Amino acid sequence: MTLPSHASITPSGEETSGSNPDESIMVSCKSIYEPREDSTMLEKYARHYAEGKVLDIGTGSGIQAIAAAQNRNVKSVLATDVQKGIIDYCKKNIKNKKIRFLQSDMFKNIKGKFDTIIFNPPYLPQELRLKDLTIEGGKKGYEVIERFLNEANNFLQPDGVILMIFSSLTQKEKVEGFIKNNLLDFEELEKAHVFFEDIHVYLLRKNEFLKKLEARGIKNVKYFAKGHRGLLFTGFYRNKKVAIKAKNPKSTAIGRIENEAKWLERLNKHSIGPKLIFTDEDYCAYGYIEGGFISDFIKKSNKNSIKKVIKSVFNQMLVLDKLKIDKEEMHHPVKHVIVAKNKPYLIDFERCHHTQKPKNVTQFCHFITSKRLTAILKNKNMGIDREKIINLAKVYKSNPNKQNFKKIINAI
Ligand SMILES: C[S@@+](CC[C@H](N)C(=O)[O-])C[C@H]1O[C@@H](n2cnc3c(N)ncnc32)[C@H](O)[C@@H]1O
Repeated sequence: MTLPSHASITPSGEETSGSNPDESIMVSCKSIYEPREDSTMLEKYARHYAEGKVLDIGTGSGIQAIAAAQNRNVKSVLATDVQKGIIDYCKKNIKNKKIRFLQSDMFKNIKGKFDTIIFNPPYLPQELRLKDLTIEGGKKGYEVIERFLNEANNFLQPDGVILMIFSSLTQKEKVEGFIKNNLLDFEELEKAHVFFEDIHVYLLRKNEFLKKLEARGIKNVKYFAKGHRGLLFTGFYRNKKVAIKAKNPKSTAIGRIENEAKWLERLNKHSIGPKLIFTDEDYCAYGYIEGGFISDFIKKSNKNSIKKVIKSVFNQMLVLDKLKIDKEEMHHPVKHVIVAKNKPYLIDFERCHHTQKPKNVTQFCHFITSKRLTAILKNKNMGIDREKIINLAKVYKSNPNKQNFKKIINAI
């Protein structure tokens, strides 16, 4: 955001029709951002790419709304701004049948979906204690953009586009991180060096996977985590938070997602695992467990809660052993058990399989007798007799019955 170069606005703040062929005039008042290099850069693309129903967020002088309205493929433009004064001013001064003005903090008062969303956000890092809404995006500069990108998908048609501009002062990597987090693809339309900053104009579209999930009724999809074999996303399905596991394109493993879904469906009947909601060829969706990993839970919980949780995991291990199913990875389940409200949930069934000799109970014995865990438990006044449990695990291994299982439980 550098000094104004746009000829149609006088620096004194008076209204002027300028060179714009459109009947409407861009407005200028004290709190209105007078079009600058960033505005005129974005304006070109607004005029070119806008179509259908357009939303111009942070309209300021109305420059983007007016440009969009000039495209014959544009049916209507909703121009919004957080500052009521700006909206009052625009309503009074911009007369264009296609454009309607509305005061709204980001998407708060906005309904419906749009084919084009345009945003020239305030993107500079805040300098004084009082934030200048027209140019400052927050302490780091990218906060307003982050908020915008976190909500934009809910207001964008599946094949809609977002036109957005930001500066090198906003931290490009951060902005691109928010874009990817929201499953958007981006294309840089233009980059210009203006005085002390680079200005980037981006065109964003929903990626194919996001479109697929949204078509299935999942909203607010966000990237969550990456595993060796799967990518994890979160979203909302029928107002409930869900986890979505998809194949990691970098993984060479075959059929893992189908395997996960197959076992989740079977084991849900035995109250094991998060509830499978639905599955498709390359992803499955299940209930999101709002909790923490088992080792974090153990570190911060009291003796009784820990005992309860460990016993519950063991009971689930016994069910799996009886069903002749091996979950795998239970000797080091730090990221495979989530505890919510003192209840442990097994997750990750990608490697689950049938076997005549399942090792779930013995693997979990291995975990609770590991040096790291026994040290943590000792701090909680929970002495674990390693020798005893290892011996009981051996007995159970050669004769996996309920009696031998109980001996392990009683030793904890
Ligand atoms: C950099 S100016 C852009 C003005 C104009 N669109 C242009 O391209 O010249 C940013 C505008 O966003 C508005 N704005 C800031 N925060 C906002 C928010 N949370 N919701 C809506 N508008 C906001 C400001 O009031 C300001 O008018």
